[in-house]
Amino acid sequence: MKHLARTFSILCLAVCASPALAETTFEKIKIEAGEKLYNSECRKCHASDASGASYGPPLENIVGRGAGMVQDYDYSTSLEASGIVWTPAALRAWMEDNDGFMPGTKMRHVGINDRTVQDFIIAYLSSITTQDNSAISE
Ligand code: HEC
Repeated sequence: MKHLARTFSILCLAVCASPALAETTFEKIKIEAGEKLYNSECRKCHASDASGASYGPPLENIVGRGAGMVQDYDYSTSLEASGIVWTPAALRAWMEDNDGFMPGTKMRHVGINDRTVQDFIIAYLSSITTQDNSAISE
């Protein structure tokens, strides 16, 4: 009987969780997965914290930011003159084929075509975006 009660409460934990709770759990898992992917694919060139040493521009606060905005970073002319905003769609195109998307960029080609992997990396990049970029990316 005791065993049965335990089974029920475990079942309830699985079934009774509210959708909102499930959503935040999914988001957390995406961010964690995205951080691992970022560590393996991007971190060698990109610090996630603007105060860290970084070969490429640091990607803190990147989502919604205009391209080429890190002061003192020596961007390529193509990137600096592109006038694009790093929306999730632009980040997706960039991860898929950055030098096709923006000929002349000095970022070495990355070819991440898997949408799920892109989603996870974008979830992580959103989690390290804490500033409201709507004013500065216009
Ligand atoms: C081999 C080094 C290298 C790797 C790996 C790399 N990048 Fe880059 N990235 C750069 C460089 C260098 C630039 C500057 C490009 C320019 O000025 O044309 C850049 C620029 C960027 C920018 C534009 C930033 C801005 O301030 O406008 C974004 C966004 C970006 N990279 C995302 C990524 C993501 C996401 C990954 C992993 C999937 C990644 N990069 C992997 C070197 C790298």
